[in-house]
Amino acid sequence: MTLTADAGTTTLDLGPARALTCRECGHQIPLAAEFACAECFGPLEVAYEFGNITRAQIEAGPKSIWRYRNLLPVPSDVDAHPNTEPGLTRLVKTDRLAAALGVKSLWVKDDTGNPTHSFKDRVVGVALAAARQLGFRVLACPSTGNLANAVAAAAARAGWQSVVLIPSSLERAKVLTTAVYDGALIAVDGNYDDVNRLATELAAEHEDWAFVNVNVRPYYAEGSKTLGFEVAEQLGWRLPDQVVVPVASGSQLTKVDKGFRELIELGLVDAKEYRVFGAQATGCSPVAAAFKAGHDVVTPVKPDTIARSLAIGAPADGPYVLDVVRRTNGAVENVSDEEVVEGIRLLARTEGIFAETAGGVTVATAKKLIETGQLDPDAETVLLITGDGLKTLDAVEDKIGPRATVPPSSEAVRAALAD
Ligand SMILES: Cc1ncc(COP(=O)(O)O)c(C=O)c1O
Ligand SMILES: [Zn+2]
Repeated sequence: MTLTADAGTTTLDLGPARALTCRECGHQIPLAAEFACAECFGPLEVAYEFGNITRAQIEAGPKSIWRYRNLLPVPSDVDAHPNTEPGLTRLVKTDRLAAALGVKSLWVKDDTGNPTHSFKDRVVGVALAAARQLGFRVLACPSTGNLANAVAAAAARAGWQSVVLIPSSLERAKVLTTAVYDGALIAVDGNYDDVNRLATELAAEHEDWAFVNVNVRPYYAEGSKTLGFEVAEQLGWRLPDQVVVPVASGSQLTKVDKGFRELIELGLVDAKEYRVFGAQATGCSPVAAAFKAGHDVVTPVKPDTIARSLAIGAPADGPYVLDVVRRTNGAVENVSDEEVVEGIRLLARTEGIFAETAGGVTVATAKKLIETGQLDPDAETVLLITGDGLKTLDAVEDKIGPRATVPPSSEAVRAALAD
């Protein structure tokens, strides 16, 4: 599938998007379903020509990521087509968590509130809108779980077919919350990196399937910018000092940074120096390892962690994560599975927010970054909580439960509470 702006599709409207540019060599091609540079195999990224965009214009827009449509590769009538309407999730001032961590000013961006309960609805929303313009009618992906949910739901809503590939070891909840949308869900005996390789092969064979994170990845990835946009808008049009982002492929972290930079370039927020931190589970921490070793390249690992949504051993955007955290004076840190569970429980106990394992990674990493003096406790910090705890109950089920099981008598309850 290589429909391009000048290949007879005069109706190709992707808003402010103008071309795809290679991140490595700068080579440009017309907008198309391509993801790798023909010159150097570098990843392609959307290039824009932004018009005049004002805060008022955005604020008057829909209560979803489509309020930022003029900053995304989507058509100007994007909200006229069925989509899942992700975004504009709450930014919560988390004073009790701040006190527990010993920091002054802390916020949680709670992306559990999206339609399928993770930030992946953002990237899939943009991928679906772009794929529709590019002529596709099948939505596909390899996934560590959350993307599977988002793709299956968005395709159902749009009346498209979906083909979703997952590792067969995925959490039961993530399997069921994908299967319920009744697309083609295929469990593969292998880890995510095996599934991803398989998807790349299938994408080459099935040119009419939009693999959101393979052949339409440049568009898909832009959806994560909306996390950065929303944080800035919800802070009253200013950037935080520090942000902590979970890292799997690394796409989200690089795009939150890109979102911040675009807001500065467009004069929508004041320019300032902010720091971006990456969070990984030790059982899959190739980017943290490269950061700590001072390397520019990321050596792949075989994942072994309860944070299965982040279990990508060969992260496509790993080197770009390293660029962002080094440029912004941030870091990439990693935490053990025990710390991940502690992170989930700390956020739940202090703020009433139940995050999945990726959120546990973020909270626990923030704690470690504070304890090791890498994160400034006096600077305003935002933690990205990107997925819902109901999807990863198995991570906590052995550790929590009722305090007691008693007969229906007030005396028995009193006795249990006295313990
Ligand atoms: C809940 C959650 N948070 C964060 C990420 C990381 O996203 P990325 O692959 O863009 O680094 C994922 C990836 O699947 C995820 O499921
Ligand atoms: Zn190139």
